[in-house]
Amino acid sequence: QNARESLYIVSEYAANFFANELWTGEDGRAIGLSYFKERGFREDIVKKFQLGYSPDVWDALINGAVAAGHKEEYLEKTGLAIRNDKGKLYDRFRGRVMFPIHNFTGRIIGFGGRTLKTDKNVPKYVNSPESDIYHKSNVLYGLFHAKKAIRETDNCYLVEGYADVLSVHQAGVENVVASSGTSLTTEQIRMIGRFTENVTILYDGDAAGIKASLRGLDMILEEGLNVKVVSFPDGHDPDSYMHHVGAGDFKKYIENNRKDFILYKANILLKEAGSDPIKRAGIIRDIVESIAKIPDDIKASVFIRECSNLLQVEERVLLSELNKMRAAKF
Ligand code: CTP
Ligand code: MN
Ligand code: MN
Ligand code: MN
Ligand code: MN
Repeated sequence: QNARESLYIVSEYAANFFANELWTGEDGRAIGLSYFKERGFREDIVKKFQLGYSPDVWDALINGAVAAGHKEEYLEKTGLAIRNDKGKLYDRFRGRVMFPIHNFTGRIIGFGGRTLKTDKNVPKYVNSPESDIYHKSNVLYGLFHAKKAIRETDNCYLVEGYADVLSVHQAGVENVVASSGTSLTTEQIRMIGRFTENVTILYDGDAAGIKASLRGLDMILEEGLNVKVVSFPDGHDPDSYMHHVGAGDFKKYIENNRKDFILYKANILLKEAGSDPIKRAGIIRDIVESIAKIPDDIKASVFIRECSNLLQVEERVLLSELNKMRAAKF
């Protein structure tokens, strides 16, 4: 049995431990399970994603794991336990609801733990550190549960967080993943690309979400995938919006409000620019910059035409701009 295998095994143990606490522990039920219920998560979703609860003490998992025959070394190497200055081990996750993170074959490789406190000084999420089995830049939360639906629908919805994955799933839309705990990486986009060429961004409807959408869409285009964006009213994310409007309307909303990246960028940038002609010229350049990232010339030319129609700029002007940008890349 190799060392990585031991890390998978102790992670699996931890997920079962946290789930058992959630469903049978006194605090787990009163605090953790109630929390999920109050947020509107159905029991079948809580079970499917193997959600759990970490007791609010220093050594619950460690004691359980060691008693079950797991070595401290592996608890430490997965980051489930941390050694303090005095050499004593303590649990990383305490008094949090737990989201196990699966790799795409379904093995547990890490965890996100959400606090139940509203105190702004407590970090909302604590995540597993990098380990021999967990490299956050090449993991997509939810991929294991989504991959079949991504293939079948030939589209992948991309959200920001754990709760968004659960709620979109609960609405009956299973082709959804999150880049949780990191900003979107090229490796993550390539993983999606193994299942579909079509990505639909569903990020939070706040300034940070818009900024991340603009960055994400350029990266997705650069990898040769097609990208659309659905935006949510300010203050909502896919999770809160699903619970706000209900599953049926949420499904309709994300199907009917996809914008291709040109329309999405144009909407955002035009709002900022108003009627200032210099700013409007900047927008055109900004959109052509995104088009210049598309590796396929035929696709790029289709978007140049759309951009020309939308912004009422001659196609030949846009094409010369595009060629200049492409030349500058080499
Ligand atoms: N995140 C993190 N650490 C934080 C805050 C956020 O790792 N301190 C990650 C989590 O994966 C989180 C995602 O970024 O799910 C999106 O963050 P945010 O929108 O702030 O949280 P939500 O997912 O909306 O969390 P919730 O609905 O539970 O409040
Ligand atoms: Mn690895
Ligand atoms: Mn956010
Ligand atoms: Mn959010
Ligand atoms: Mn949220």
